[in-house]
Amino acid sequence: MSLPIDQLFCEDCRDTLERLPPDCIDLVVTSPPYADMRAYHGYSIDLPGIISGLWKVVKPGGVVVWITADKTVQGDETGDSLRQALAFKEQGFQLWDTMIFEKEVRGATGNNRGYWQVWDYMFVFSKGAPKTINLLMDRPNKEARKGDRGTKRLSNGELKSIQRGGYSAYGRRTNIWKYKVGKGHSTKDAIAFQHPAIFPEALARDHILSWSNAGDVVYDPFMGSGTVAKMAKLAGRHYLGSEVSAAYCAIARERVVISE
Ligand SMILES: C[S@@+](CC[C@H](N)C(=O)[O-])C[C@H]1O[C@@H](n2cnc3c(N)ncnc32)[C@H](O)[C@@H]1O
Repeated sequence: MSLPIDQLFCEDCRDTLERLPPDCIDLVVTSPPYADMRAYHGYSIDLPGIISGLWKVVKPGGVVVWITADKTVQGDETGDSLRQALAFKEQGFQLWDTMIFEKEVRGATGNNRGYWQVWDYMFVFSKGAPKTINLLMDRPNKEARKGDRGTKRLSNGELKSIQRGGYSAYGRRTNIWKYKVGKGHSTKDAIAFQHPAIFPEALARDHILSWSNAGDVVYDPFMGSGTVAKMAKLAGRHYLGSEVSAAYCAIARERVVISE
């Protein structure tokens, strides 16, 4: 099969992965169903099959961003996220970075028996070293200053003229990314909130800019409301997505069309 581009498939991602040719995807950004945390119309996933399918379709040097969290069952976190990360490594993926998606705290929440859980994992896997690394440089640098000329005293007492390097106004980010979430923050597309678990558009955009270039192919096998496809399109990338629920797939199609 030749590579379809700019398409959203309303089907199980295993079917899409089976049809796609090998080594055709530059970047995957996705969040799978989190350990049955939400109903998602009752769909479950075959993780080993999906990981081997991703290994097949991702290009050498391509990246998979896997955003996930654990469920807590009677005071015991499942540890599923870490098991998933190890399964990717066993498949051959490199664990390039374990990043954190921090959700800005708003209002108060119940349960005083533990600290407020405010983050998800963002595992960055790569098939070999990543071929594209465009680090986002938007962290204000407190030490910012221009380079200048100065002097240094040598061991024989002489003063040597030297050029001192400066520090730019903005440095690269840390690997903890913080976003506001929820209505009015994750997206302005009201229709997206018919899905119970969207992630912020800004998060999808930031990974797309970091690990792909214009014209690359970005795939989300669990696209939900289509956040990744929409942001890939807006960033000048080609997009592909799969979603097994017909209702969520319809939302994704509408969001990608609205963004035209
Ligand atoms: C965490 S949500 C993704 C939300 C998405 N990131 C967004 O911003 O809208 C996971 C999605 O995976 C879908 N899903 C579950 N199993 C699937 C499968 N085998 N193939 C494709 N989609 C699946 C669920 O219906 C759900 O919409």
